[in-house]
Amino acid sequence: MNDAVRQVTHAQNIRYDKTAEALYMIDQTLLPGEEKEIRTETLEEMVEAIKALRVRGAPAIGIFAAYSMYALARTIPTAGTREDFLHSLGSFGDALKAARPTAVNLSWAVDLMLETARERLELDGPALLEALYQKAVEIHEDDIAKCRAISEYGLSLLKPGDGVLTHCNAGPLATSRYGTAQGPFLLAAEKGVPVRVFADETRPLLQGARLTSYELSRAGVDVTLICDNMASMVMKNGWVQACFVGCDRIAANGDTANKIGTSGVAILAKHYGIPVYVLGPTSTIDLNCPDGDHIPIELRDPDEIKALWYEKPMALPEVKCYNPAFDVTDHSLIAGIVTEKGICRPPYSESLAALFK
Ligand code: MRU
Repeated sequence: MNDAVRQVTHAQNIRYDKTAEALYMIDQTLLPGEEKEIRTETLEEMVEAIKALRVRGAPAIGIFAAYSMYALARTIPTAGTREDFLHSLGSFGDALKAARPTAVNLSWAVDLMLETARERLELDGPALLEALYQKAVEIHEDDIAKCRAISEYGLSLLKPGDGVLTHCNAGPLATSRYGTAQGPFLLAAEKGVPVRVFADETRPLLQGARLTSYELSRAGVDVTLICDNMASMVMKNGWVQACFVGCDRIAANGDTANKIGTSGVAILAKHYGIPVYVLGPTSTIDLNCPDGDHIPIELRDPDEIKALWYEKPMALPEVKCYNPAFDVTDHSLIAGIVTEKGICRPPYSESLAALFK
């Protein structure tokens, strides 16, 4: 495999150093200018890292939360009873889950860690902690395998020379390796298959400009950065044969929450007859959520729109802002949902449920 591609696909965005008992991650807010690892030790630092998007992307925050639960379990005083231990771990889990409400992978990973603690409660202290560590590693390694499978299925939907539009960042930084919606492009680079990617800059936090174009260009993928409002033009020009997007929560009927602007991409794509594929692991599917109306949508600080990227604020302080982090794409606009178990087609209420049988 080409070294440049490998460096991107296998970059370690989250790492737990067992010898030092330390949790590290690449601070994504500093990219692409600075690639810096930071260490988080306390619950407050972990919650802040998730809220500030130092670690972001649905699968990545799940992996980070799993290691956080292990690291926090180590801080619980050994003097208490097993019920005290479970209670404290549950409180840590609640705080982590509350950091960001939309991506279901976060609560999914926290719940798996709590379930492991409950199931292994009879073990002595060190053995119980080791079981939690092993569970976090399993969640991390499973994601690596899932992303690779998703990338293979996604690439099977493309022909050499195809142009693909993507929104936000769903690459290795947002997952473990390869990514979901970006995985097929990196796999194509690995296999020498030419694809052209159009990356929406993704207002207001610019994940497309700062992260997607950074990862893809470092891997040698033919990537063109566009502003979000240029997608229609690029589609009209005939440069895009498919749209690949990630997901933060997929409801039982196939409605999908992803980065704000995704539903606009899907509506445009319908106009131009371009298929939209949602790519994500089964850990992002929430069968307990019947449809998109039931997905909680995170609202963020107005300053991300008004001031964050500018030397001076670009709007008067009194101007009102509406800053939802995600929107929901209606299932009727989605041509396929690509998971590690295969490609689901409509009707999604049947094909998604079948994945869990
Ligand atoms: O707010 P973010 O940057 O965490 O939003 C991320 C997205 O919307 C991604 O597309 C999604 O989490 C999938 S990442 C594989």
